[in-house]
Amino acid sequence: MGDLISIALTKGRIEKGAIKLLEQAGFGVEELKDKGRKLVFNDTKEDIRYFLVKANDTVTYVEHGVADIAIVGKDTLLEKEENYYEVLDLGMGKCKFIVATLPGTNIFNKIGHIKIGTKYPAVAKSYFEGKGMDVEIIKIEGSVELAPILGISEGIVDIMETGTTLKENGLVVVDEICDISSRVIVNKSSFKLKRNEINSFIDKIREVCN
Ligand code: PRP
Repeated sequence: MGDLISIALTKGRIEKGAIKLLEQAGFGVEELKDKGRKLVFNDTKEDIRYFLVKANDTVTYVEHGVADIAIVGKDTLLEKEENYYEVLDLGMGKCKFIVATLPGTNIFNKIGHIKIGTKYPAVAKSYFEGKGMDVEIIKIEGSVELAPILGISEGIVDIMETGTTLKENGLVVVDEICDISSRVIVNKSSFKLKRNEINSFIDKIREVCN
């Protein structure tokens, strides 16, 4: 029998897609599909333990070696560039990083500094620095679309999937920063110490992802 591997899964937006992919790859995800309020789950076929955590925490757990592997969005990885291997693009959870404002606000021609609300300060900072713009980043934890509506910022940097949230709140996309999808990351020492188990996991997932 091989070593037990621990996998951190991201709660929320990409959770269902990740579980579906695991199921298609032949893993025993029954407990995950009927999870109630539980946070730790055993695979019913393999020596795997899954836990469900917030996106940023998946990276923290992998960094600390508590999780050998995580399934997490590239948005989180771009914001939290730390010490792990990114081994696979799952081709699911697709969305984009965008810049949005209320119609008629031209943040790119404005003289003086502008304010940008975002859950992703590092991504926003790097984007506006790349344009040589003087920007104050305001960290917002959620419902970022409210920021320009309430006037705390002129624009936002956020992820857009269907575009519905922007539309329903009257915001327009003024630039696209990059595409995002779900990725598999691996703890660097686990990759050496549990090589066979981890490669076998990656191979099975690779077979079923797009
Ligand atoms: C994300 C994002 C947008 C929305 C975009 O928020 O911050 O608000 O989804 O999706 P759409 O283009 O399909 O409308 P999330 O649902 O993760 O919740 P949050 O605002 O509470 O972080």
